[in-house]
Amino acid sequence: MVSFTSLLSLALAAGGLAAAKPTSFNGTGQIRTLWAYGDHSDLGCLTSAGLWTTDESLCGKFDAKRTNESPVMFTLASVEGPCQIYGKFSCAKGNEPYIFGLWPWGNSVPGVECLRWGQYGLMASSGPRNPPLPTDPPQELHLTSASEEQKYVWLTFGSV
Ligand SMILES: *[C@@H]1O[C@H](CO)[C@@H](O)[C@H](O)[C@H]1NC(C)=O
Repeated sequence: MVSFTSLLSLALAAGGLAAAKPTSFNGTGQIRTLWAYGDHSDLGCLTSAGLWTTDESLCGKFDAKRTNESPVMFTLASVEGPCQIYGKFSCAKGNEPYIFGLWPWGNSVPGVECLRWGQYGLMASSGPRNPPLPTDPPQELHLTSASEEQKYVWLTFGSV
Protein backbone atom coordinates (compact mmCIF):
# COMPACT_ATOMS: atom_id res chain seq x y z
CA MET A 1 0.00 0.00 0.00
CA VAL A 2 1.47 3.33 -1.05
CA SER A 3 0.90 6.04 1.52
CA PHE A 4 -0.21 9.55 0.75
CA THR A 5 3.00 11.00 2.18
CA SER A 6 5.21 8.82 -0.03
CA LEU A 7 3.18 9.88 -3.08
CA LEU A 8 3.56 13.47 -1.97
CA SER A 9 7.31 13.15 -1.58
CA LEU A 10 7.54 11.49 -5.02
CA ALA A 11 5.59 14.41 -6.50
CA LEU A 12 7.88 16.89 -4.76
CA ALA A 13 10.96 15.02 -5.97
CA ALA A 14 9.62 15.05 -9.54
CA GLY A 15 8.88 18.78 -9.23
CA GLY A 16 12.35 19.34 -7.84
CA LEU A 17 13.92 17.45 -10.74
CA ALA A 18 11.88 19.43 -13.25
CA ALA A 19 12.98 22.71 -11.67
CA ALA A 20 16.62 21.62 -11.60
CA LYS A 21 16.64 20.59 -15.28
CA PRO A 22 19.27 22.77 -16.90
CA THR A 23 17.95 25.08 -19.58
CA SER A 24 20.40 26.14 -22.22
CA PHE A 25 20.72 29.68 -23.55
CA ASN A 26 19.48 31.14 -20.28
CA GLY A 27 21.69 32.86 -17.73
CA THR A 28 25.48 32.96 -17.88
CA GLY A 29 27.38 30.50 -20.04
CA GLN A 30 29.91 29.92 -22.75
CA ILE A 31 29.06 29.44 -26.39
CA ARG A 32 30.60 26.15 -27.50
CA THR A 33 31.17 25.05 -31.08
CA LEU A 34 30.19 21.42 -31.73
CA TRP A 35 31.20 19.66 -34.93
CA ALA A 36 28.13 19.20 -37.14
CA TYR A 37 29.12 15.70 -38.22
CA GLY A 38 31.03 12.63 -37.03
CA ASP A 39 31.19 12.39 -33.25
CA HIS A 40 29.96 16.00 -32.77
CA SER A 41 33.14 16.72 -30.86
CA ASP A 42 33.58 20.02 -29.06
CA LEU A 43 35.76 22.23 -31.28
CA GLY A 44 36.21 25.21 -29.00
CA CYS A 45 34.18 28.24 -28.05
CA LEU A 46 33.49 31.85 -28.89
CA THR A 47 35.42 34.75 -27.41
CA SER A 48 33.43 37.60 -25.88
CA ALA A 49 33.69 39.39 -29.24
CA GLY A 50 32.08 36.34 -30.89
CA LEU A 51 35.20 34.96 -32.58
CA TRP A 52 36.05 31.25 -32.79
CA THR A 53 38.93 29.98 -30.67
CA THR A 54 40.28 26.71 -29.31
CA ASP A 55 42.29 28.49 -26.61
CA GLU A 56 40.08 27.73 -23.59
CA SER A 57 41.47 30.72 -21.69
CA LEU A 58 39.85 33.00 -24.30
CA CYS A 59 36.29 31.61 -24.01
CA GLY A 60 33.86 34.46 -23.42
CA LYS A 61 31.03 34.61 -20.92
CA PHE A 62 27.62 35.26 -22.39
CA ASP A 63 24.46 36.50 -20.78
CA ALA A 64 21.48 34.74 -22.37
CA LYS A 65 17.88 35.79 -21.83
CA ARG A 66 15.43 33.06 -22.81
CA THR A 67 11.67 33.34 -22.97
CA ASN A 68 9.21 30.68 -21.88
CA GLU A 69 7.42 30.97 -25.20
CA SER A 70 7.17 28.33 -27.85
CA PRO A 71 9.07 28.57 -30.05
CA VAL A 72 11.85 29.55 -27.64
CA MET A 73 13.48 32.93 -28.23
CA PHE A 74 16.59 34.36 -26.62
CA THR A 75 19.11 37.17 -26.87
CA LEU A 76 22.84 36.96 -26.17
CA ALA A 77 25.31 39.56 -24.97
CA SER A 78 28.85 39.62 -23.60
CA VAL A 79 30.94 42.33 -21.97
CA GLU A 80 31.60 43.53 -25.53
CA GLY A 81 27.92 44.15 -26.21
CA PRO A 82 24.85 42.52 -27.79
CA CYS A 83 25.39 39.58 -30.19
CA GLN A 84 24.16 39.30 -33.75
CA ILE A 85 24.97 37.43 -36.95
CA TYR A 86 25.22 40.18 -39.49
CA GLY A 87 27.65 38.71 -42.01
CA LYS A 88 29.56 37.13 -39.15
CA PHE A 89 28.82 36.36 -35.51
CA SER A 90 29.69 39.41 -33.45
CA CYS A 91 29.13 40.83 -29.99
CA ALA A 92 29.91 44.52 -29.87
CA LYS A 93 28.66 47.81 -28.55
CA GLY A 94 26.11 49.33 -30.89
CA ASN A 95 25.01 45.94 -32.25
CA GLU A 96 21.31 45.51 -32.78
CA PRO A 97 20.63 42.42 -30.59
CA TYR A 98 19.31 39.48 -32.60
CA ILE A 99 16.45 37.25 -31.51
CA PHE A 100 17.83 33.73 -31.67
CA GLY A 101 15.98 30.44 -31.35
CA LEU A 102 16.62 26.71 -31.10
CA TRP A 103 17.21 24.55 -34.17
CA PRO A 104 13.96 22.59 -34.41
CA TRP A 105 14.98 19.81 -36.80
CA GLY A 106 16.71 16.53 -36.06
CA ASN A 107 19.87 17.09 -38.09
CA SER A 108 21.99 19.07 -35.62
CA VAL A 109 23.53 17.50 -32.50
CA PRO A 110 21.28 14.81 -30.93
CA GLY A 111 20.02 15.83 -27.50
CA VAL A 112 21.78 19.20 -27.51
CA GLU A 113 20.03 22.52 -28.02
CA CYS A 114 21.63 24.36 -30.93
CA LEU A 115 21.30 28.02 -31.86
CA ARG A 116 19.34 29.07 -34.89
CA TRP A 117 18.65 32.42 -36.43
CA GLY A 118 15.56 32.19 -38.57
CA GLN A 119 16.00 29.04 -40.64
CA TYR A 120 19.81 29.17 -40.40
CA GLY A 121 22.18 27.84 -37.78
CA LEU A 122 25.04 25.86 -39.26
CA MET A 123 28.25 27.91 -38.95
CA ALA A 124 31.63 27.85 -40.67
CA SER A 125 34.72 30.01 -40.90
CA SER A 126 36.72 31.36 -43.78
CA GLY A 127 39.75 31.45 -41.52
CA PRO A 128 42.92 29.56 -42.39
CA ARG A 129 41.96 26.54 -40.29
CA ASN A 130 38.55 25.24 -39.20
CA PRO A 131 38.82 24.84 -36.26
CA PRO A 132 41.71 27.20 -35.49
CA LEU A 133 44.67 25.89 -33.52
CA PRO A 134 44.88 27.12 -29.90
CA THR A 135 47.84 29.26 -30.97
CA ASP A 136 45.95 30.86 -33.89
CA PRO A 137 44.28 34.22 -33.36
CA PRO A 138 40.50 33.86 -32.85
CA GLN A 139 38.78 33.88 -36.24
CA GLU A 140 35.38 34.84 -37.63
CA LEU A 141 32.45 32.46 -37.76
CA HIS A 142 29.43 32.95 -40.00
CA LEU A 143 26.30 31.15 -41.18
CA THR A 144 27.65 28.75 -43.74
CA SER A 145 27.24 29.24 -47.45
CA ALA A 146 28.29 25.57 -47.87
CA SER A 147 31.45 26.67 -49.72
CA GLU A 148 33.83 26.70 -46.73
CA GLU A 149 36.34 23.92 -46.33
CA GLN A 150 36.73 21.71 -43.26
CA LYS A 151 34.58 21.65 -40.18
CA TYR A 152 31.11 23.09 -39.82
CA VAL A 153 29.79 23.70 -36.31
CA TRP A 154 26.63 24.33 -34.32
CA LEU A 155 26.61 26.85 -31.50
CA THR A 156 25.57 25.41 -28.13
CA PHE A 157 25.44 26.69 -24.55
CA GLY A 158 28.03 25.49 -22.05
CA SER A 159 28.63 26.19 -18.40
CA VAL A 160 31.26 28.75 -17.42
C1 LIG B 1 15.86 31.67 -17.10
O1 LIG B 1 16.54 31.88 -15.89
C2 LIG B 1 15.82 32.70 -14.99
C3 LIG B 1 16.72 32.98 -13.81
O2 LIG B 1 17.24 31.81 -13.26
C4 LIG B 1 14.54 31.98 -14.60
O3 LIG B 1 13.80 32.77 -13.71
C5 LIG B 1 13.72 31.73 -15.85
O4 LIG B 1 12.58 30.97 -15.53
C6 LIG B 1 14.54 30.97 -16.88
N1 LIG B 1 13.80 30.90 -18.10
C7 LIG B 1 13.64 29.75 -18.76
C8 LIG B 1 12.85 29.84 -20.02
O5 LIG B 1 14.11 28.69 -18.39
